[in-house]
Amino acid sequence: MSTLLLDGKALAQKIQGQLTEEVRILSQKAGRAPGLAVIWVGDNPASKAYVGNKEKACTKVGIVSFSEHLEADTPQEKLEQLIVQMNDDEAIDGILVQLPVPEGLNGSALTQRIHPDKDVDGLHAVNLGKLVRGEAGLRSCTPSGVMAILQEAQIPLAGKHAVVVGRSVLVGKPIGLMLLEKNCTVTYTHSQTPDLAKLTQEADILIVAVGRPEMITGHMVKPGAAVIDVGINRITDYEGNTRLVGDVDFKSVLSVAGWLTPVPGGVGPMTVTMLISNTVESFKQSIK
Ligand code: GUN
Repeated sequence: MSTLLLDGKALAQKIQGQLTEEVRILSQKAGRAPGLAVIWVGDNPASKAYVGNKEKACTKVGIVSFSEHLEADTPQEKLEQLIVQMNDDEAIDGILVQLPVPEGLNGSALTQRIHPDKDVDGLHAVNLGKLVRGEAGLRSCTPSGVMAILQEAQIPLAGKHAVVVGRSVLVGKPIGLMLLEKNCTVTYTHSQTPDLAKLTQEADILIVAVGRPEMITGHMVKPGAAVIDVGINRITDYEGNTRLVGDVDFKSVLSVAGWLTPVPGGVGPMTVTMLISNTVESFKQSIK
């Protein structure tokens, strides 16, 4: 079986190019550029890298950054006040709280403080509710990025069996709903699912988002399936070298799957692209 690699990096560049042009035209018309505020609390090193990537990509597209980096011991109340201020700030079209937040803070309550129209991460209960209802609204970035990859490769979805490994609010739950919307038959699996391999072997579309390095191996994959690896894990080998790997064991799945996303260069670059796309969408609504 020859496996087609799904190049998320190239797709991200293509979409970001289109968004750059759209932002240029809209900014001229509106007399201002779109604005995105990323609230980052504490010093989680992974968050630092994510926030840096988001800011860099936004600037490239012409979005103004209103980011705030706060100390880990910032009180919940102060953070909620900051979000309320940002909700009222007309220069800011999108707000997100980088997760996870340090212990002692309630990340979910912070997300709920964001006005649903500015919730460019699509994590507010109103936007998740709209997704459940199949209504238009801001949708979470990583699952939207996965859907864009599947669409670009013209992978058939209707009537196919999609198996989702992982049940997070950030990825697992929403991607299952998006696949259901495209008429897939969806099975959710997780850490307590017995005989996981039996289910993954039945998947025409296999979405893996569990945060366990290389746990999906070739024998767990149906020949010809589309395998989407959402995991980003930094591992250290026995020689002390570190590298990024996904939740899918790339080597053993290659040549079994029909389509496969690499790590890095697969889903990762699409997350930030969808964040930009959501910010532009929110900007468009605001200047209408
Ligand atoms: N942490 C890891 N991924 C994400 C994301 O997409 N959004 C937020 N807010 N936090 C994250």
